[in-house]
Amino acid sequence: MNFMEIAKRRYAVRSYTTQKVETEKLAQILQAAHVAPTAGNLQPVRLLVVQSEEGLKKLSKGADIYCAPLAIIVAADHSKAWTRPFDQKQTTDIDAAILTDHMMLQATELGLGSVWICYFKPEVIREEFALPVHWEPINILAIGYSEGRAADPERHHQTRIPVTELAAYEIW
Ligand SMILES: Cc1cc2nc3c(=O)[nH]c(=O)nc-3n(C[C@H](O)[C@H](O)[C@H](O)COP(=O)(O)O)c2cc1C
Repeated sequence: MNFMEIAKRRYAVRSYTTQKVETEKLAQILQAAHVAPTAGNLQPVRLLVVQSEEGLKKLSKGADIYCAPLAIIVAADHSKAWTRPFDQKQTTDIDAAILTDHMMLQATELGLGSVWICYFKPEVIREEFALPVHWEPINILAIGYSEGRAADPERHHQTRIPVTELAAYEIW
């Protein structure tokens, strides 16, 4: 699959089989995160892989991961991320998002489904997994083998605004 095929094929999977994600596939997904860029290459992001019964139970206290057999908590360190000097904007969310997207697309390429999750209780996640105070859980990526019919890779002309509305040339 070329890049556009992978990007089109990916969709938010909210139903999973009980099949576990193979160790080699998980390793490839983590490799995809490893090569992702971060602002100033400061690498303020860490990944917490959760796949044990106990870990998934803890996760379910703060997030709905749709019974996926694997979830990766993507956390960023506010004491380490790059800060823009003009307005103090920190790139924690952006850095975490790039790693998450790399992992999501790699998962698709490996025939896995995934869903990006921001609807979770950060304090519960922080507490359950004993995250240090300056670490913020930013995203959770749930991964597994999808159940049911896959979304149409050609759906985007209906489910997205037109490219002409998305992008402007030279003038806002
Ligand atoms: C930043 C972000 C946060 C999201 N949070 C959630 C979430 O908490 N729960 C959920 O079910 N889906 C979540 N999604 C999935 C989106 O709802 C989904 O990607 C979007 O509706 C487009 O559908 P598609 O991914 O199937 O093309 C999130 C996606 C993104 C990019």
